[in-house]
Amino acid sequence: MNGRKKTNAKNSYAPVSNVELAPLHKKLCQYIRMEEAAYNETPLEPDTLMGHLERVAAYAVRLAVNEGVDPLRAELAALFHDAGKFHGGTYHEGNKPEEIRSIEVLKELAGENGQSREVVEDVSDAILQLYNDDCGKTPLSMVLFDADNLDKMGLLGIANYFIKSGLRGQGLTAEMITKLTVELTYARYAGRRFYTKTGRSLAVKKSLDTIRFIHDFLDVLREDCIFDTRIEHVQVSDVVLELVMLSSCHCGAPIHLQRIWTEEGVKCTQIHLEMGCRVCENRYKIKFCRPMFVV
Ligand SMILES: [Fe+2]
Ligand SMILES: [Zn+2]
Repeated sequence: MNGRKKTNAKNSYAPVSNVELAPLHKKLCQYIRMEEAAYNETPLEPDTLMGHLERVAAYAVRLAVNEGVDPLRAELAALFHDAGKFHGGTYHEGNKPEEIRSIEVLKELAGENGQSREVVEDVSDAILQLYNDDCGKTPLSMVLFDADNLDKMGLLGIANYFIKSGLRGQGLTAEMITKLTVELTYARYAGRRFYTKTGRSLAVKKSLDTIRFIHDFLDVLREDCIFDTRIEHVQVSDVVLELVMLSSCHCGAPIHLQRIWTEEGVKCTQIHLEMGCRVCENRYKIKFCRPMFVV
């Protein structure tokens, strides 16, 4: 047991939709929790990544059924698409892309579970195509892409945003409020960021929840005299950003947008923003992937 605490190990996971995947799902859960625990250097076995994989699997099956894609392949692709994320307890270390490691895990575990070679190959291709702009997308990889992004949409997306901020040690701070810029900007473009018809209509519906929630949340903070914010629109290339800006600095002077620029990152074009006070040194910096338009 090496002192590791088992947390709800028996029933803590969402069931699979394709029952033949149940044994494979169980093995994957054990593997993912172990890798994530090693990465976090914690004796607790976290469910952050496994939870994401399961939610994406639920969306993938739903999209697949509506889009005429094999739901078993879709569920398998979703369950394994990030399986290599914390390989060996590290994150983005070495030069092997995490998708390659995800596929290795898939091949190893699916092989033991008796999944056919053809299925494993199709699923591997979909995982490789997921964020590779150089190759075309198959219907399976489009379903996977949309399912992965639906986990960041709507109230679920907001819940995940707060969890992620908390895991990084951030509470309800001015920085965290300012970074709602990213959520609001992504919500604005929900209709252009999804490949499938089903994914797109779900995303658009959910984006309204995101927009409503953020506006209500900012209203409450203003009414209760906690943070006073305003939303400004700024264009960078062909994207209009929804900047959530604090109205004033703690020194009393106004906060302004000071710098905005883009840089080519490894996975995306990054938008960089700097807001700040002209009187004191107070700065808020945000960097995020420019929303990727697929339609
Ligand atoms: Fe993912
Ligand atoms: Zn100031």
